[in-house]
Amino acid sequence: MALISWSNMLSVGVKEIDDQHKKLIDLINQLNDAMHQGKGKDVLGKVLTELVSYTLYHFGTEEKLMGQHHYEDSAAHKNEHHKFVQTVGDFKKKFDAGGAMISIEIMNFLRDWLSNHIMKTDKKFGQSLNKQGVK
Ligand SMILES: [Fe+2]
Ligand SMILES: [Fe+2]
Repeated sequence: MALISWSNMLSVGVKEIDDQHKKLIDLINQLNDAMHQGKGKDVLGKVLTELVSYTLYHFGTEEKLMGQHHYEDSAAHKNEHHKFVQTVGDFKKKFDAGGAMISIEIMNFLRDWLSNHIMKTDKKFGQSLNKQGVK
């Protein structure tokens, strides 16, 4: 069962960003499924690693677009990315060291952070890109 589903409500109006969000949602669902299926640390660790690296790649894409299009609100947006990377990076370190488990709380945090960030911060950015003809 999917923890989070992509729908048009989550569209930011820019195809490249929407496609990457779909992939992020897919990875979060994969991690959630693996946790509920009681998969071992190796499987969970692999999906978690993929989620972390794809998140970095995705934030890089958005931040490159911010630079190219001189986005006025880039500092606050990048700060949200930065905090999330730190939080998830800290969690991953603890997980790798055996001091943390993938839990329902962690999954809910990932789901809520991603959907809130997309709905508010990324949508605002998408609207700004749309005004410059980027779709
Ligand atoms: Fe995003
Ligand atoms: Fe973003």
